[in-house]
Amino acid sequence: MYSDLKGKTAVITGAATGLGQGIAKRFLDEGMNVVINYHSHIGEACNLAAKYNDAAIGFGCDDGQDTSDAFNETAEKEGEGIRAIVVQADICTEEGNKKLLDAAIDHFGGVDVWVCNAGIEIQSPTHKVTLDDWNKQISVNLTGVFIGARDMINYAIENDRSMNVIVMSSCHDHIPWGTYAAYTCSKFAATALVQTLGSEYGYVSADSNGEQVIRVNAISPGAINTPINEQRFANKDLYENTVSMIPIGRVGGVAEVASIAAFLASNEASGYITGTSINIDGGLGYGSCFANGEG
Ligand code: NAI
Ligand code: BGC
Repeated sequence: MYSDLKGKTAVITGAATGLGQGIAKRFLDEGMNVVINYHSHIGEACNLAAKYNDAAIGFGCDDGQDTSDAFNETAEKEGEGIRAIVVQADICTEEGNKKLLDAAIDHFGGVDVWVCNAGIEIQSPTHKVTLDDWNKQISVNLTGVFIGARDMINYAIENDRSMNVIVMSSCHDHIPWGTYAAYTCSKFAATALVQTLGSEYGYVSADSNGEQVIRVNAISPGAINTPINEQRFANKDLYENTVSMIPIGRVGGVAEVASIAAFLASNEASGYITGTSINIDGGLGYGSCFANGEG
């Protein structure tokens, strides 16, 4: 637990499922306010928010309809100390990102931490990848990150306040991955963007005494048990093959990645870290194929 996180506000993209959901839980457990962005999983988003709010539990929102405004209104009317709200938005668009920022300002008075977590992967031999599938992956995994980070830097500068951007990259920001070319390129580029922003921004203004700072960092996970891997891990051979590539001998847990997000969100814990990426991959990135002197 990090004492400086209590009362801070985070926006987490793609937070209804998997790693985003785990980060939302961890941040809420830390006493933060969280805007839970979902794209298409309203039921999961509302159930998660309801767990942390006193009211609106069991609110009927798992029929796939966008009832997030009604959910938030009900929660606010009936609940005390509302700390989790749900907001539908497509983070590939400027409007979607603005909607999330506006929600954080309206409900919680501002935003301190922005987690660009949403991502998609589509497998295909590279010579068969359609332009549409290529564009979709670059759009969510890279352009969405660019829009979110750019807008948060503007928000920090315009309001003279600190900002902490955390990007969910991947071990495929440094390991090429056959049949996942667009995904791999998007993650290499997302981490390159983090490095660039870390070198370009730091203190917000010369007279802030270094107190208002912009930090931008990435997390680069290996194989973690989430919906993105559901199909692959349901196949026993593929699952065992994945595990055999990991020196620690197991896939990672969501909470393990969420604890890196909490570390990066806390200025107390990581205030002097920016422009970098933290690998959390059980050793996968170090090429277990070379482990026994082969090569
Ligand atoms: P997931 O599939 O559960 O999460 C992805 C989330 O992004 C989903 O909730 C999805 O609805 C959302 N999303 C997709 N397009 C969106 C859009 N246009 N606007 C808003 N939200 C959108 O899978 P997981 O694993 O939780 O993925 C989260 C992030 O972690 C992704 O960026 C992924 O690339 C990254 N990652 C995952 C690893 C793993 O092994 N699970 C390892 C390395 C990175
Ligand atoms: C992918 C996962 C994969 C992991 C390790 C992540 O970026 O999203 O599907 O298991 O990398 O290869």
